[in-house]
Amino acid sequence: MHVLFPRDQIEERVEEMAAEITRDFRGESVLLIGVLKGAAIFLADLARAIELDATFDFIGVASYNGTLTTGEVRVTKDLDQSVRERNVILVEDILDTGLTLSYLKKLLAAHEPRVLKIAALLDKPSRRQLPITADYVGFTVGDEFLVGYGLDLGEQYRNLPDICVLPKI
Ligand code: IMP
Ligand code: MG
Repeated sequence: MHVLFPRDQIEERVEEMAAEITRDFRGESVLLIGVLKGAAIFLADLARAIELDATFDFIGVASYNGTLTTGEVRVTKDLDQSVRERNVILVEDILDTGLTLSYLKKLLAAHEPRVLKIAALLDKPSRRQLPITADYVGFTVGDEFLVGYGLDLGEQYRNLPDICVLPKI
């Protein structure tokens, strides 16, 4: 497998993203919400690099019919805490078609957070089906299937420390 972003480069970029969040929310607290399971590793590193009062929670989503093409997303694990009046940052591994985050953004916005931002480690703008952008982006990538650092193929490869390109078969 070809390494696209080695671990050192990921670490450096995650620290830069955390510094940006720390600046933007200085003096305030943030609630990081990780989208299971892909964002777990990114969230763990991001949270430790943010120099603010930070709490975190996780939300689980699945798409109906196995694919996201219908845009119908279903919550499989709900939040444990309220987002009302909180500074919420939705943390996702990759922003692809945008269906998942568009759904989650709408869902969370209905519960009236004070601020609602999106942090995506990776962004694949060429695949977007809905007009959504992340407020904090680690790396912009092309239309390649990536694994590692939380990203999976059929639940495999999430634990690879580097982000790799899966060779096309
Ligand atoms: P979206 O709703 O299409 O934006 O879906 C985003 C989700 O698709 C991510 O959270 C990933 O789980 C998955 N995904 C999209 N692209 C990739 C990839 O290159 N590798 C692994 N998972 C991906
Ligand atoms: Mg995911």
